[in-house]
Amino acid sequence: MKTSGNDSPTIIKLEDYLSSLPTGIMSGEDVQLPDHSFRKIFEFVDLNEKDVFYHLGCGNGRGIAIASEEFGVKKAVGIDIDSKKIDEAKQFLDEKKLYNTQVINENILNSQFDDASVILFWFTDTKIIESMMDKFEKMGNECKIITIWGPLPGCLPDQIDFPYIINQVPFRQAKDLKEQLLAVFGSKCIDFVNAWEFAERYTKAIGAPDAGNDRFLTIIQSLVIWINAKNLGVACTDEIPPAIKNYMGILRNFFNIEVEHLIK
Ligand SMILES: C[S@@+](CC[C@H](N)C(=O)[O-])C[C@H]1O[C@@H](n2cnc3c(N)ncnc32)[C@H](O)[C@@H]1O
Repeated sequence: MKTSGNDSPTIIKLEDYLSSLPTGIMSGEDVQLPDHSFRKIFEFVDLNEKDVFYHLGCGNGRGIAIASEEFGVKKAVGIDIDSKKIDEAKQFLDEKKLYNTQVINENILNSQFDDASVILFWFTDTKIIESMMDKFEKMGNECKIITIWGPLPGCLPDQIDFPYIINQVPFRQAKDLKEQLLAVFGSKCIDFVNAWEFAERYTKAIGAPDAGNDRFLTIIQSLVIWINAKNLGVACTDEIPPAIKNYMGILRNFFNIEVEHLIK
């Protein structure tokens, strides 16, 4: 445990703690969805033999294999900027002899995917997301774009199985961030119970089945959800709920992480 000069522990702000984590994890570069997440997503979107599926940022190609092998899509295409990941994906798909699949090594900002009926797009980089919106808006009607955690910017989600979200072309515009947030959570306001439930679903959905740090992640996520809701004026109460206070205390006392300053 780090301590300051007088031996009391050094408390760090949540954002400083997050920026101390490995950059590959924080930027999402090294994040690979587990197989169970792909299956859940494909069931949710009802992926089937009529679909042309694209995975943007496909990593090692496991999603492409599952789409082809288990959901029988007409065609599955993966695109990734990392040539090593694409080599690994190619080898994996070749070994499985999945000939209706293709993986391409390129920047998705330069990619063509006009024939897609379903696209999996899990990016958090706002520059990439904004640049892709133009392309997505021009897709044929009813193309489904699956995002994770939040809908495409400014859009109302079409279907939600949190943290998985279907955004269908033509997109429906949200009036504001409040409307968008409440549509994602399917409630009139956010209390501790909503925040915890959604945080837990997210951790379980994208975490490895044997993850040992689930609870820690869920605590951080639920605090972030509630604080965002509070700052947007959609928390159910003005006061900080007792459970949120308790978890803030746990983070501060046991992990030396401060989050309360994020409340505006
Ligand atoms: C979960 S995705 C998202 C990563 C992204 N940096 C973000 O904004 O969250 C991770 C995969 O996307 C790939 N990737 C990142 N930027 C890309 C780009 N511009 N074009 C294609 N693939 C990209 C990475 O190589 C990695 O396999």
